[in-house]
Amino acid sequence: MRSLSAWALAWSAIACDGSSGVNDVADGGPTPLFPENFQDEFTVARDCRHSHEHDLRYIKVWANDLAKEPYATLSADVPYLPGATLVKLEYDDEDCTTLLGYTVMYREAPPYSPGTFNWHWQRLDAERQVLEDGPQIPRCIACHSTHCTPPRGAGFELTCVDDAAPPPVATTPRD
Ligand code: HEC
Repeated sequence: MRSLSAWALAWSAIACDGSSGVNDVADGGPTPLFPENFQDEFTVARDCRHSHEHDLRYIKVWANDLAKEPYATLSADVPYLPGATLVKLEYDDEDCTTLLGYTVMYREAPPYSPGTFNWHWQRLDAERQVLEDGPQIPRCIACHSTHCTPPRGAGFELTCVDDAAPPPVATTPRD
């Protein structure tokens, strides 16, 4: 797997000394989990909208080829494979022009973090500096485990349902 994962694992082992488990990033730490030219390779999976959560910012979600179908389907029938990447851009304005930063969910090969679906979490500033990184960023996992997971929320393997999508059409039989 990628050397970044090895780095993150080593770092998380260091962090297992009773500290918070958040992998605060020092110089020479991990690099972004998505390419700089991601907009050429990824597709927009959620268009510009207000976020209920992420500090109530405006957001847009981009998915790479491995992530876009699972993210749209949110079902075990279309699993996330290692390498699936979801990048959420956070903006200050409702037109999504002033970028504030990024959050990322990157599916690692097992056994990266089996209890949390092998997601590698990352937060970056608008200049792609990695601010937080690793398999255990408790704040991310806690919220995605409630807001994006039944019964309180809806989603699949800690990814969230599209709240802006129209509700499913009722299929009551006509008489
Ligand atoms: C307080 C709740 C909350 C916290 C904390 C949170 N998220 Fe989210 N996240 C959400 C919700 C809700 C969505 C769905 C889109 C939206 O409304 O923002 C989401 C969407 C995402 C997405 C797009 C994929 C998806 O599931 O829709 C990524 C990537 C993401 N979050 C990463 C992170 C990372 C990394 C962190 C921690 C640094 C984090 N999140 C912290 C609630 C949260």
